[in-house]
Amino acid sequence: MTIHIGAQKGDIAETVLMPGDPYRAKWAAETFLQDAQLINEVRGMLGYTGSWNGHKVTIQGSGMGMPSLSIYANELIRDFGAKTLIRIGSCGGMQPQVKLRDVIVAMTATTLASPSQSIFKEVNFAPSADWSLLQAAVTAAQSRDIGTHVGGIYSSDTFYDERPDLNEQMVRHGILGVEMEAAELYTLAARYQCRALAVLTVSDHLGTGETLPSDQRERSFGDMVEIALEAAFA
Ligand code: HPA
Repeated sequence: MTIHIGAQKGDIAETVLMPGDPYRAKWAAETFLQDAQLINEVRGMLGYTGSWNGHKVTIQGSGMGMPSLSIYANELIRDFGAKTLIRIGSCGGMQPQVKLRDVIVAMTATTLASPSQSIFKEVNFAPSADWSLLQAAVTAAQSRDIGTHVGGIYSSDTFYDERPDLNEQMVRHGILGVEMEAAELYTLAARYQCRALAVLTVSDHLGTGETLPSDQRERSFGDMVEIALEAAFA
């Protein structure tokens, strides 16, 4: 057991899917895993372990934002031996070609401030995805009838960001979408020689102001879970 994860050591798989929302972890585990068992409910941050096609998998909520994800990813990696960590979540689209319900497979995650920032001092570290996971997720996404984009995203620590110029610069530099967790996940994976990836559904668009209706969110989320599972065990 760790401070934030009330599981025993063998309860957690080497492959962990990390949605931000703990209820999404519950839904995904009950929908896609066989014999899913609740392994964590400390602070309501639900985690489940079960199997998919004979492979042991944990689905653990990360909470919102890099400070929260950092707590769970650190404990999963350092205390429970997680080796492959895939964030599944939503993002705001930033480019005109990125449409609602499309999937973004995040090759890099730019950030202004992550919990790891201070250790790099003046260096701007470039958090990037694991290549094998990235390649497998793109193949899995393209085999479905879903618009798929591969490239850079922006991990923000401020949802209600009042710096419009920052978003403008991100758009100008080809950033596909904005979310709040991937940069820290990629940085921790690099530090501890793990594999990490973020697979994201576009739930809203910063340019057009559109948002995905809630009944369509579940379907998109299901596609992401399947893409993540296929990529993890490709
Ligand atoms: N900003 C940050 N995170 C997000 C957004 C957004 O617009 N949409 C979904 N996650």
